[in-house]
Amino acid sequence: MPRFVTVARVHEIAPGAARQVTVEGRWVGLFNIDGVFHAVDNLCLHRGGPLCEGAIRGAVVTCPWHGWQFDVASGALMQDPTVGVSRHEIRIVGDEIQVRLTD
Ligand code: FES
Repeated sequence: MPRFVTVARVHEIAPGAARQVTVEGRWVGLFNIDGVFHAVDNLCLHRGGPLCEGAIRGAVVTCPWHGWQFDVASGALMQDPTVGVSRHEIRIVGDEIQVRLTD
């Protein structure tokens, strides 16, 4: 059963910013969208580009390698929302951002 893992502190990731964290050996992109944190798999569905290094506009990140776009709140691929990257649970405890893998 996955458990919540502390991955960063709230003040470390400004609104509009992102970073890669590792949760139980898995690369996860952590995004701050207007003060709300989201966690999705950091590997683009196309060829594994690092999503957290892409440009963020609203809740949409553009993969830096070839431009696929994902909604970081749902993980859905903007060009085809029937597919997407896995989204993970987030909770804030004090100033800690904690992530629990969902699959
Ligand atoms: S690896 Fe992300 S668009 Fe190609």
